Amino acid sequence: MGTIKCIGILTSGGDAPGMNAAIRAVTRSAIFNGLKVKGIYRGYKGLITGEIQEFQTQNVSNIIQQGGTILKTARCQEFKTPEGRKIAYETMQREGIDALIVIGGDGSLTGARLLAQEFDVPCIGLPGTIDNDLYGTDTTIGYDTALNTIIEAVDKIRDTATSHERLFFVEVMGRDAGFLALNGAIASGAEAAIIPEFNTEVDQLEEFIKNGFRKSKNSSIVLVAESEITGGAMHYAERVKNEYPQYDVRVTILGHLQRGGSPTAHDRIIASRMGVASIEALMEGQRNVMIGIENDQMVYVPFAKAIKNDKPIDRELVAVLRELSI
Ligand code: ADP
Ligand code: F6P
Repeated sequence: MGTIKCIGILTSGGDAPGMNAAIRAVTRSAIFNGLKVKGIYRGYKGLITGEIQEFQTQNVSNIIQQGGTILKTARCQEFKTPEGRKIAYETMQREGIDALIVIGGDGSLTGARLLAQEFDVPCIGLPGTIDNDLYGTDTTIGYDTALNTIIEAVDKIRDTATSHERLFFVEVMGRDAGFLALNGAIASGAEAAIIPEFNTEVDQLEEFIKNGFRKSKNSSIVLVAESEITGGAMHYAERVKNEYPQYDVRVTILGHLQRGGSPTAHDRIIASRMGVASIEALMEGQRNVMIGIENDQMVYVPFAKAIKNDKPIDRELVAVLRELSI
Protein backbone atom coordinates (compact mmCIF):
# COMPACT_ATOMS: atom_id res chain seq x y z
CA MET A 1 0.00 0.00 0.00
CA GLY A 2 1.49 3.35 -1.09
CA THR A 3 1.37 6.69 0.70
CA ILE A 4 -2.03 7.92 1.69
CA LYS A 5 -2.95 11.16 -0.11
CA CYS A 6 -6.72 11.11 0.01
CA ILE A 7 -9.11 9.75 2.61
CA GLY A 8 -12.81 8.99 2.34
CA ILE A 9 -15.14 9.46 5.29
CA LEU A 10 -18.61 8.04 5.83
CA THR A 11 -21.22 7.58 8.55
CA SER A 12 -23.18 4.33 8.62
CA GLY A 13 -25.89 2.53 10.58
CA GLY A 14 -27.95 4.37 13.21
CA ASP A 15 -27.10 8.06 13.47
CA ALA A 16 -25.69 9.29 16.77
CA PRO A 17 -25.23 12.77 18.25
CA GLY A 18 -21.58 13.72 17.83
CA MET A 19 -21.15 12.14 14.41
CA ASN A 20 -20.94 15.66 12.95
CA ALA A 21 -18.27 16.63 15.46
CA ALA A 22 -16.34 13.54 14.31
CA ILE A 23 -16.76 14.40 10.62
CA ARG A 24 -15.49 17.91 11.37
CA ALA A 25 -12.49 16.62 13.30
CA VAL A 26 -11.50 14.04 10.69
CA THR A 27 -11.84 16.58 7.86
CA ARG A 28 -9.96 19.37 9.59
CA SER A 29 -7.21 17.09 10.90
CA ALA A 30 -6.72 15.51 7.46
CA ILE A 31 -6.48 18.90 5.76
CA PHE A 32 -4.17 20.17 8.52
CA ASN A 33 -1.89 17.23 7.74
CA GLY A 34 -1.93 17.82 3.98
CA LEU A 35 -4.43 15.13 2.99
CA LYS A 36 -7.36 15.43 0.62
CA VAL A 37 -10.78 14.52 2.08
CA LYS A 38 -13.80 13.11 0.30
CA GLY A 39 -17.18 12.91 2.01
CA ILE A 40 -19.17 9.81 1.06
CA TYR A 41 -22.95 10.20 1.38
CA ARG A 42 -25.38 7.64 2.81
CA GLY A 43 -22.85 5.25 4.27
CA TYR A 44 -21.75 2.27 2.22
CA LYS A 45 -24.58 2.97 -0.22
CA GLY A 46 -22.75 6.11 -1.36
CA LEU A 47 -19.59 4.14 -1.81
CA ILE A 48 -21.45 1.83 -4.18
CA THR A 49 -23.34 4.54 -6.07
CA GLY A 50 -20.49 7.07 -6.05
CA GLU A 51 -22.26 9.84 -4.09
CA ILE A 52 -19.04 11.57 -3.14
CA GLN A 53 -17.90 15.17 -2.68
CA GLU A 54 -14.51 16.62 -1.92
CA PHE A 55 -14.57 18.46 1.42
CA GLN A 56 -12.76 21.66 2.26
CA THR A 57 -12.51 22.99 5.80
CA GLN A 58 -15.63 25.18 5.28
CA ASN A 59 -17.77 22.13 4.46
CA VAL A 60 -17.64 21.21 8.13
CA SER A 61 -18.18 24.69 9.58
CA ASN A 62 -21.02 25.18 12.04
CA ILE A 63 -21.82 21.49 12.49
CA ILE A 64 -20.18 20.58 15.81
CA GLN A 65 -23.41 21.39 17.67
CA GLN A 66 -25.75 19.56 15.28
CA GLY A 67 -27.23 16.12 15.92
CA GLY A 68 -27.59 13.57 13.11
CA THR A 69 -25.01 13.45 10.34
CA ILE A 70 -24.48 15.89 7.46
CA LEU A 71 -23.21 12.93 5.41
CA LYS A 72 -26.55 11.15 5.93
CA THR A 73 -26.55 7.50 6.87
CA ALA A 74 -28.07 4.32 5.58
CA ARG A 75 -28.26 0.61 6.09
CA CYS A 76 -26.97 -0.96 2.88
CA GLN A 77 -27.75 -4.63 2.24
CA GLU A 78 -25.67 -4.71 -0.95
CA PHE A 79 -22.49 -3.98 0.98
CA LYS A 80 -23.04 -7.20 2.93
CA THR A 81 -22.30 -9.14 -0.26
CA PRO A 82 -18.79 -9.64 -1.73
CA GLU A 83 -20.10 -8.25 -5.04
CA GLY A 84 -21.30 -5.07 -3.34
CA ARG A 85 -17.98 -4.55 -1.58
CA LYS A 86 -16.14 -5.05 -4.90
CA ILE A 87 -18.16 -2.23 -6.46
CA ALA A 88 -17.36 -0.08 -3.39
CA TYR A 89 -13.66 -0.79 -3.82
CA GLU A 90 -13.83 0.09 -7.52
CA THR A 91 -15.46 3.41 -6.59
CA MET A 92 -12.61 4.10 -4.18
CA GLN A 93 -10.06 3.42 -6.91
CA ARG A 94 -11.90 5.62 -9.40
CA GLU A 95 -12.13 8.47 -6.86
CA GLY A 96 -8.50 8.09 -5.77
CA ILE A 97 -9.51 7.34 -2.16
CA ASP A 98 -6.57 5.56 -0.50
CA ALA A 99 -8.05 4.99 2.96
CA LEU A 100 -11.43 5.01 4.62
CA ILE A 101 -12.66 6.41 7.95
CA VAL A 102 -15.92 4.77 9.00
CA ILE A 103 -18.03 6.24 11.78
CA GLY A 104 -20.66 3.79 13.00
CA GLY A 105 -21.60 0.87 15.20
CA ASP A 106 -20.60 -2.76 15.19
CA GLY A 107 -22.33 -3.53 11.87
CA SER A 108 -20.55 -0.65 10.14
CA LEU A 109 -17.19 -1.68 11.55
CA THR A 110 -17.83 -5.29 10.49
CA GLY A 111 -18.29 -3.97 6.96
CA ALA A 112 -15.05 -1.96 7.18
CA ARG A 113 -13.21 -5.01 8.44
CA LEU A 114 -14.35 -7.09 5.48
CA LEU A 115 -13.48 -4.38 2.95
CA ALA A 116 -10.02 -4.06 4.50
CA GLN A 117 -9.46 -7.81 4.41
CA GLU A 118 -10.69 -8.36 0.90
CA PHE A 119 -9.00 -5.43 -0.87
CA ASP A 120 -6.12 -4.45 1.38
CA VAL A 121 -7.66 -1.00 1.98
CA PRO A 122 -6.58 0.83 5.15
CA CYS A 123 -9.69 1.43 7.24
CA ILE A 124 -10.03 3.19 10.58
CA GLY A 125 -13.25 3.02 12.60
CA LEU A 126 -14.72 5.55 15.00
CA PRO A 127 -17.29 4.19 17.46
CA GLY A 128 -20.45 6.10 16.60
CA THR A 129 -23.54 4.63 18.25
CA ILE A 130 -25.80 5.49 21.16
CA ASP A 131 -25.71 1.82 22.23
CA ASN A 132 -22.17 1.92 23.71
CA ASP A 133 -21.76 -1.71 22.69
CA LEU A 134 -18.28 -1.56 21.18
CA TYR A 135 -15.51 -3.24 23.10
CA GLY A 136 -12.29 -1.31 23.79
CA THR A 137 -13.70 2.14 24.45
CA ASP A 138 -15.22 3.43 27.67
CA THR A 139 -17.94 5.22 25.76
CA THR A 140 -19.03 5.57 22.15
CA ILE A 141 -19.88 8.81 20.37
CA GLY A 142 -23.55 9.59 21.04
CA TYR A 143 -24.00 7.49 24.16
CA ASP A 144 -23.65 10.35 26.65
CA THR A 145 -26.13 12.54 24.76
CA ALA A 146 -28.63 9.68 24.59
CA LEU A 147 -28.25 9.10 28.34
CA ASN A 148 -28.95 12.77 28.99
CA THR A 149 -32.03 12.61 26.78
CA ILE A 150 -33.23 9.56 28.70
CA ILE A 151 -32.88 11.20 32.10
CA GLU A 152 -34.68 14.32 30.91
CA ALA A 153 -37.60 12.14 29.78
CA VAL A 154 -37.62 10.00 32.92
CA ASP A 155 -37.62 13.10 35.15
CA LYS A 156 -40.89 14.10 33.46
CA ILE A 157 -42.41 10.63 33.62
CA ARG A 158 -41.62 10.56 37.32
CA ASP A 159 -44.03 13.45 37.94
CA THR A 160 -46.91 11.35 36.67
CA ALA A 161 -45.63 8.16 38.28
CA THR A 162 -45.53 9.91 41.66
CA SER A 163 -48.86 11.72 41.31
CA HIS A 164 -50.75 8.60 40.25
CA GLU A 165 -48.70 6.17 42.36
CA ARG A 166 -47.96 4.07 39.31
CA LEU A 167 -45.38 1.61 38.16
CA PHE A 168 -43.82 2.73 34.87
CA PHE A 169 -41.80 0.59 32.51
CA VAL A 170 -39.73 2.93 30.34
CA GLU A 171 -38.21 1.23 27.32
CA VAL A 172 -34.89 2.56 26.09
CA MET A 173 -32.77 1.69 23.08
CA GLY A 174 -29.51 -0.25 23.01
CA ARG A 175 -30.28 -3.11 20.65
CA ASP A 176 -29.00 -6.09 22.68
CA ALA A 177 -26.92 -4.05 25.13
CA GLY A 178 -28.06 -2.76 28.51
CA PHE A 179 -25.73 0.22 28.98
CA LEU A 180 -28.36 2.88 28.29
CA ALA A 181 -30.87 1.15 30.57
CA LEU A 182 -28.49 0.57 33.46
CA ASN A 183 -26.74 3.94 33.52
CA GLY A 184 -29.98 5.71 32.56
CA ALA A 185 -31.57 4.10 35.63
CA ILE A 186 -28.75 5.19 37.94
CA ALA A 187 -28.75 8.73 36.58
CA SER A 188 -32.52 9.17 36.77
CA GLY A 189 -32.92 7.56 40.18
CA ALA A 190 -35.05 4.77 38.74
CA GLU A 191 -35.82 1.78 40.92
CA ALA A 192 -34.47 -0.90 38.58
CA ALA A 193 -33.14 -1.73 35.15
CA ILE A 194 -34.01 -4.82 33.16
CA ILE A 195 -31.20 -5.64 30.77
CA PRO A 196 -30.51 -8.45 28.29
CA GLU A 197 -27.13 -9.28 29.82
CA PHE A 198 -28.84 -10.67 32.95
CA ASN A 199 -31.84 -12.26 31.34
CA THR A 200 -30.68 -15.82 31.71
CA GLU A 201 -29.34 -15.30 35.24
CA VAL A 202 -32.44 -14.22 37.12
CA ASP A 203 -36.06 -13.34 36.65
CA GLN A 204 -35.42 -9.60 36.72
CA LEU A 205 -39.06 -8.68 37.35
CA GLU A 206 -39.36 -11.01 40.31
CA GLU A 207 -36.06 -9.69 41.66
CA PHE A 208 -37.35 -6.15 41.48
CA ILE A 209 -40.65 -6.92 43.21
CA LYS A 210 -38.88 -9.09 45.80
CA ASN A 211 -36.35 -6.36 46.52
CA GLY A 212 -39.01 -4.26 48.07
CA PHE A 213 -41.00 -2.34 45.53
CA ARG A 214 -43.79 -0.73 47.58
CA LYS A 215 -42.00 -1.21 50.88
CA SER A 216 -40.97 2.41 51.01
CA LYS A 217 -42.47 3.93 47.85
CA ASN A 218 -45.81 4.15 46.12
CA SER A 219 -44.46 4.64 42.65
CA SER A 220 -41.68 3.15 40.65
CA ILE A 221 -39.81 3.54 37.42
CA VAL A 222 -38.08 0.61 35.79
CA LEU A 223 -35.92 1.12 32.72
CA VAL A 224 -36.18 -1.79 30.30
CA ALA A 225 -33.65 -2.30 27.53
CA GLU A 226 -35.34 -2.94 24.19
CA SER A 227 -34.30 -6.36 23.03
CA GLU A 228 -35.75 -9.58 21.80
CA ILE A 229 -33.92 -11.17 24.72
CA THR A 230 -35.79 -9.21 27.41
CA GLY A 231 -38.98 -8.88 25.38
CA GLY A 232 -39.09 -5.13 26.04
CA ALA A 233 -41.30 -3.00 28.29
CA MET A 234 -44.64 -4.27 26.95
CA HIS A 235 -43.70 -7.80 27.91
CA TYR A 236 -43.06 -6.79 31.52
CA ALA A 237 -46.21 -4.66 31.72
CA GLU A 238 -48.23 -7.67 30.55
CA ARG A 239 -46.55 -9.84 33.15
CA VAL A 240 -47.35 -7.37 35.93
CA LYS A 241 -50.98 -7.19 34.79
CA ASN A 242 -51.20 -10.98 35.04
CA GLU A 243 -48.95 -11.75 38.00
CA TYR A 244 -49.34 -8.61 40.16
CA PRO A 245 -52.72 -7.13 39.20
CA GLN A 246 -52.71 -4.89 42.28
CA TYR A 247 -50.26 -2.51 40.59
CA ASP A 248 -51.28 0.29 38.24
CA VAL A 249 -48.84 -0.15 35.41
CA ARG A 250 -47.98 2.01 32.36
CA VAL A 251 -45.43 1.80 29.53
CA THR A 252 -43.46 4.54 27.78
CA ILE A 253 -41.28 3.67 24.81
CA LEU A 254 -38.78 6.47 24.30
CA GLY A 255 -37.85 5.41 20.77
CA HIS A 256 -35.93 7.53 18.30
CA LEU A 257 -35.96 10.73 20.33
CA GLN A 258 -32.96 9.10 22.06
CA ARG A 259 -30.95 9.38 18.85
CA GLY A 260 -31.51 13.09 18.23
CA GLY A 261 -30.43 16.39 19.66
CA SER A 262 -27.36 18.51 20.06
CA PRO A 263 -24.40 16.47 21.38
CA THR A 264 -23.23 16.98 24.95
CA ALA A 265 -19.78 18.42 25.69
CA HIS A 266 -18.57 14.87 26.42
CA ASP A 267 -19.64 13.58 23.01
CA ARG A 268 -18.24 16.60 21.17
CA ILE A 269 -14.91 16.19 22.95
CA ILE A 270 -14.51 12.44 22.40
CA ALA A 271 -15.62 12.82 18.78
CA SER A 272 -13.03 15.57 18.25
CA ARG A 273 -10.26 13.60 19.94
CA MET A 274 -11.12 10.40 18.11
CA GLY A 275 -11.30 12.21 14.77
CA VAL A 276 -7.82 13.67 15.21
CA ALA A 277 -6.52 10.30 16.43
CA SER A 278 -7.90 8.55 13.34
CA ILE A 279 -5.70 10.67 11.05
CA GLU A 280 -2.71 10.26 13.35
CA ALA A 281 -3.30 6.50 13.28
CA LEU A 282 -3.34 6.39 9.49
CA MET A 283 -0.16 8.43 9.26
CA GLU A 284 1.53 6.14 11.80
CA GLY A 285 0.70 3.20 9.55
CA GLN A 286 -2.11 1.81 11.72
CA ARG A 287 -4.61 -0.24 9.76
CA ASN A 288 -7.99 -1.74 10.46
CA VAL A 289 -8.44 -0.59 14.00
CA MET A 290 -11.14 1.26 15.86
CA ILE A 291 -10.12 4.33 17.81
CA GLY A 292 -11.18 4.07 21.44
CA ILE A 293 -10.69 6.01 24.65
CA GLU A 294 -9.95 3.98 27.76
CA ASN A 295 -9.13 5.65 31.06
CA ASP A 296 -8.83 8.92 29.12
CA GLN A 297 -6.09 7.48 26.86
CA MET A 298 -6.45 7.03 23.12
CA VAL A 299 -6.23 3.37 22.15
CA TYR A 300 -6.25 1.39 18.90
CA VAL A 301 -8.57 -1.60 19.05
CA PRO A 302 -8.39 -4.22 16.27
CA PHE A 303 -11.76 -4.43 14.51
CA ALA A 304 -12.20 -8.09 15.43
CA LYS A 305 -11.93 -7.26 19.13
CA ALA A 306 -14.13 -4.16 19.01
CA ILE A 307 -17.07 -5.86 17.30
CA LYS A 308 -17.08 -9.16 19.12
CA ASN A 309 -20.05 -7.84 21.03
CA ASP A 310 -18.93 -8.92 24.46
CA LYS A 311 -18.40 -5.56 26.13
CA PRO A 312 -19.14 -6.49 29.71
CA ILE A 313 -21.59 -4.76 32.01
CA ASP A 314 -19.87 -3.48 35.13
CA ARG A 315 -21.35 -5.33 38.12
CA GLU A 316 -20.47 -2.43 40.39
CA LEU A 317 -23.09 -0.34 38.54
CA VAL A 318 -25.71 -2.98 39.23
CA ALA A 319 -24.83 -2.90 42.92
CA VAL A 320 -25.03 0.90 43.00
CA LEU A 321 -28.48 0.88 41.42
CA ARG A 322 -29.75 -1.78 43.81
CA GLU A 323 -28.34 -0.07 46.89
CA LEU A 324 -29.70 3.35 46.01
CA SER A 325 -33.20 2.26 45.03
CA ILE A 326 -34.36 1.11 48.47
P1 ADP B 1 -24.53 -0.19 13.16
O1 ADP B 1 -23.28 0.13 12.41
O2 ADP B 1 -25.13 1.00 13.83
O3 ADP B 1 -24.37 -1.39 14.05
P2 ADP B 1 -25.95 -1.87 11.21
O4 ADP B 1 -25.74 -3.14 11.94
O5 ADP B 1 -27.30 -1.64 10.62
O6 ADP B 1 -25.65 -0.57 12.10
O7 ADP B 1 -24.85 -1.80 10.06
C1 ADP B 1 -24.76 -0.69 9.21
C2 ADP B 1 -24.30 -1.11 7.85
O8 ADP B 1 -23.02 -1.72 7.92
C3 ADP B 1 -25.18 -2.16 7.15
O9 ADP B 1 -26.33 -1.63 6.56
C4 ADP B 1 -24.21 -2.72 6.12
O10 ADP B 1 -24.09 -1.86 5.02
C5 ADP B 1 -22.91 -2.73 6.92
N1 ADP B 1 -22.77 -4.05 7.56
C6 ADP B 1 -23.36 -4.50 8.68
N2 ADP B 1 -23.05 -5.80 8.92
C7 ADP B 1 -22.26 -6.17 7.90
C8 ADP B 1 -21.63 -7.41 7.52
N3 ADP B 1 -21.76 -8.50 8.29
N4 ADP B 1 -20.90 -7.43 6.39
C9 ADP B 1 -20.76 -6.33 5.62
N5 ADP B 1 -21.33 -5.15 5.91
C10 ADP B 1 -22.08 -5.06 7.01
O1 F6P C 1 -27.90 1.11 16.96
C1 F6P C 1 -28.63 2.25 17.30
C2 F6P C 1 -30.09 1.94 17.40
O2 F6P C 1 -30.78 3.14 17.76
C3 F6P C 1 -30.46 0.81 18.36
O3 F6P C 1 -30.44 1.22 19.72
C4 F6P C 1 -31.83 0.44 17.86
O4 F6P C 1 -32.12 -0.90 18.17
C5 F6P C 1 -31.70 0.62 16.37
O5 F6P C 1 -30.62 1.50 16.16
C6 F6P C 1 -32.95 1.17 15.73
O6 F6P C 1 -32.74 1.22 14.37
P1 F6P C 1 -33.70 1.97 13.35
O7 F6P C 1 -33.36 3.42 13.37
O8 F6P C 1 -33.39 1.35 12.04
O9 F6P C 1 -35.11 1.76 13.81
